[in-house]
Amino acid sequence: MRSCSFISIYIIVIIIIVTPLLIYHAQAQSQSQGIDSIIQLPRSGSSRTRTRTRSRRFLSIADFGARGDGFHNDTQAFLKVWEIACSLSGFINIVFPYQKTFLVTPIDIGGPCRSKITLRILGAIVAPRNPDVWHGLNKRKWIYFHGVNHLSVEGGGRIDGMGQEWWSRSCKINTTNPCLPAPTALTFHKCKSLKVRNLTVLNSQKMHIAFTSCMRVVASRLKVLAPASSPNTDGIHISATKGVEIRDSLIRTGDDCISIVRNSSRVWIRNISCGPGHGISIGSLGKSNVWEKIQNVIVDGAYLYNTDNGVRIKTWQGGSGFASKITFQNILMENVSNPIIIDQYYCDSRHPCKNQTSAVQVGNISFINIQGTSATEETIKFACSDASPCEGLYLENIFLRSYFGGNTRSYCWQAHGSAQGYVYPPVCFSTSSDLIRQNVLLEPNPAINSV
Ligand SMILES: *[C@@H]1O[C@H](CO)[C@@H](O)[C@H](O)[C@H]1NC(C)=O
Ligand SMILES: *[C@@H]1O[C@H](CO)[C@@H](O)[C@H](O)[C@H]1NC(C)=O
Ligand SMILES: *[C@@H]1O[C@H](CO)[C@@H](O)[C@H](O)[C@H]1NC(C)=O
Ligand SMILES: *[C@@H]1O[C@H](CO)[C@@H](O)[C@H](O)[C@H]1NC(C)=O
Ligand SMILES: *[C@@H]1O[C@H](CO)[C@@H](O)[C@H](O)[C@H]1NC(C)=O
Ligand SMILES: *[C@@H]1O[C@H](CO)[C@@H](O)[C@H](O)[C@H]1NC(C)=O
Ligand SMILES: *[C@@H]1O[C@H](CO)[C@@H](O)[C@H](O)[C@H]1NC(C)=O
Ligand SMILES: *[C@@H]1O[C@H](CO)[C@@H](O)[C@H](O)[C@H]1NC(C)=O
Repeated sequence: MRSCSFISIYIIVIIIIVTPLLIYHAQAQSQSQGIDSIIQLPRSGSSRTRTRTRSRRFLSIADFGARGDGFHNDTQAFLKVWEIACSLSGFINIVFPYQKTFLVTPIDIGGPCRSKITLRILGAIVAPRNPDVWHGLNKRKWIYFHGVNHLSVEGGGRIDGMGQEWWSRSCKINTTNPCLPAPTALTFHKCKSLKVRNLTVLNSQKMHIAFTSCMRVVASRLKVLAPASSPNTDGIHISATKGVEIRDSLIRTGDDCISIVRNSSRVWIRNISCGPGHGISIGSLGKSNVWEKIQNVIVDGAYLYNTDNGVRIKTWQGGSGFASKITFQNILMENVSNPIIIDQYYCDSRHPCKNQTSAVQVGNISFINIQGTSATEETIKFACSDASPCEGLYLENIFLRSYFGGNTRSYCWQAHGSAQGYVYPPVCFSTSSDLIRQNVLLEPNPAINSV
């Protein structure tokens, strides 16, 4: 009887979750042909070629000395076209033409600009393969945008970090190597009203895309790709950023698909396909005893496949602050290790970490409608801190069975909360009578609803 009802619930759940995914897929296929014919590129001519198309002006990097052969250094051309675009007014498009490959060395692209700029990457931008090119430069950056407002980066093209040599020099791959920094492919720092969409970002040296100290960000229709074995190649990293929407994207990397750290809030993640990778993570938080607060995060609609974690909150011993008002819902997992995990003993260091008397407080976290298969027996793990136990955990409609057959279980330490609906494996925390389902607060984000 028991296994029979499991099976029927499982089938219903699969129908509910998989049908929309199939519809997404069908829609994606029908939408993938395009609108780009509106772009009329100035093929040649003087360096200030301006073409009026729907009151937008287009500047091609090819008109500023870029060769686009993947071999010559096109960095100077990128700087020049940016400088001109930034000094004009109105809407400016900077075009990286189709079928060209622009080799760009570490570059700083700064604002503020008078204009609102769209980088239309139709072709490809590639990094130098050789890490020695960074000699004497900041090893944490490749393409670094800072202080630019109303920037869009789009166009269907490709940004390739050529990270292979960086990976083989990583101390995570070969422990005899020193642990040195490596570049984030695309960093957006202090950018307001930013859109990054319809691009493939791949093989980054380290993280692929980072939003740091930004406001009002929409990232959509991205493909972020790197081998499962590539070290620390997070897909999208959100740090000290308020008001972020990440949606309709496919992320397959060697580290977290999405990670959220350092006082970020109002983060809305939906329709994400993730895996391989380390799943969707809040944290790590509280490293080196810092204070931080993450709140109002909703992950709604995700498919995780073969990931090392599903949805995770990780904090170091010794920090302080909060991770609260966080909801993970409508998530389908397939062969995921640690599908649901709160780990307040996180320690990503060569030396073991000591337990301390404080921790970032984790509370008011909801897990709703999470189904699928686990590669491990322990599918729900709440390892909370002795110093500040987890409060207000809420589970509703959870069904996580073993990918390999057999039972699954949950683990609790210092975890308190409530549950509703069907929950398998059964909850192990001490339940409170009040059901605290999070109403995550997402203030209307002007960038989200505009085109
Ligand atoms: C590429 O061009 C940039 C800008 O002119 C320059 O700073 C950099 O040193 C060049 N790098 C290489 C490897 O040629
Ligand atoms: C993405 O970019 C490609 C190439 O520029 C274009 O054909 C396509 O319509 C764009 N897709 C969306 C959803 O904007
Ligand atoms: C690790 O690096 C050391 C020194 O750089 C090298 O001698 C050794 O062969 C490497 N090991 C592997 C497994 O690549
Ligand atoms: C969900 O995201 C995928 C890309 O990963 C996209 O093809 C699909 O259209 C999206 N679904 C919806 C409903 O937007
Ligand atoms: C978070 O913000 C607070 C002030 O609001 C600051 O003291 C703290 O250092 C910030 N934490 C981090 C990790 O940046
Ligand atoms: C399932 O996950 C396990 C553990 O990560 C992995 O070893 C195995 O290859 C995965 N199975 C498939 C079919 O991908
Ligand atoms: C830290 O505390 C946890 C929970 O009380 C305990 O299981 C673990 O052994 C402790 N670790 C160390 C290094 O003391
Ligand atoms: C959780 O919510 C309750 C009620 O709103 C509040 O009193 C408590 O401080 C919150 N806990 C955390 C860790 O944010």
